Amino acid sequence: MEKKIKKAIFPAAGLGTRFLPATKASPKEMLPIVDKPMIQYAIEEASACGIEEFIIITGKYKRAIEDHFDSAFELEESLKRAGKKRLLEEISRLNQLNFAYIRQKAALGLGHAIYCAKPFVKDEPFAVLLSDDIIDPDDNLLQDMINLYRKLNSPVIALQQVLMADINKYGVIEGIREGDSVYRITNLVEKPRAMEAPSDLAIIGRYILTPDVFDILAGVSFGRDGEIQLTDALHGLLKKRPIYGYLFKGKRYDAGDKFGYLKAIVDLALKNPKVSEQFKEYLVEVATMIKSSI
Ligand code: G1P
Repeated sequence: MEKKIKKAIFPAAGLGTRFLPATKASPKEMLPIVDKPMIQYAIEEASACGIEEFIIITGKYKRAIEDHFDSAFELEESLKRAGKKRLLEEISRLNQLNFAYIRQKAALGLGHAIYCAKPFVKDEPFAVLLSDDIIDPDDNLLQDMINLYRKLNSPVIALQQVLMADINKYGVIEGIREGDSVYRITNLVEKPRAMEAPSDLAIIGRYILTPDVFDILAGVSFGRDGEIQLTDALHGLLKKRPIYGYLFKGKRYDAGDKFGYLKAIVDLALKNPKVSEQFKEYLVEVATMIKSSI
């Protein structure tokens, strides 16, 4: 029977090596994009789709994430006294959400991180959001995936067409196109070399999964990069049930990468009414300076 998606998992235990030294003692997920930490974009995206329980997988040096989503009595009182109603509302909206934290004791990979959430998810379908994949807040990717899950009653994975030069950074699928943006997946490979990639359709960090994936994850061996890979578990699940891919054509930022992070900051700052006008003027100034220097 089809069940409502009420829970979402946010893996956040990674070491953030691509952002060292910034991430030596602070979580990558807390790096700010304009005025919000990276992970807040994913939390707000899930909340807008009716998710009620937010399960964050944390690890060493990740306590700032818990503090960020907790109530902050002194700060809230001081905002109240200062009459900063808007800011107060924005801050207290977050801590009304229902968070659970699970500590992944060793960085054994994405598959292992998801497996750690098994006792919280129990027997329900759930979403997974990788917070360093930032989806343009004006797009409805997760909601479209939930709708597709309801229609097909099968797991749905977000896909994006990427350049073959970048394919080795992703899980990659092979599939049969069944609709405008829908693929029935026939194979999945984690981070293949370009010459071995079955297509240019990369898995991006949004998944709607069913709880039977936990049984498969329990038996998955260490794969690519010596880690327990979610992609390998999905490969195993494919033998038991159909899995679908949803091709996303909107804007995604790989904010776990320095260049992707900078692009996210620029685009999201241009959309942010608090800074957009001033920032646009500044960008024009910079662009003019660059142009005149080449
Ligand atoms: C993870 C997954 C990979 C997926 C990617 C999307 O890799 O293992 O299949 O394509 O996220 O961002 P990571 O980027 O954590 O190495």
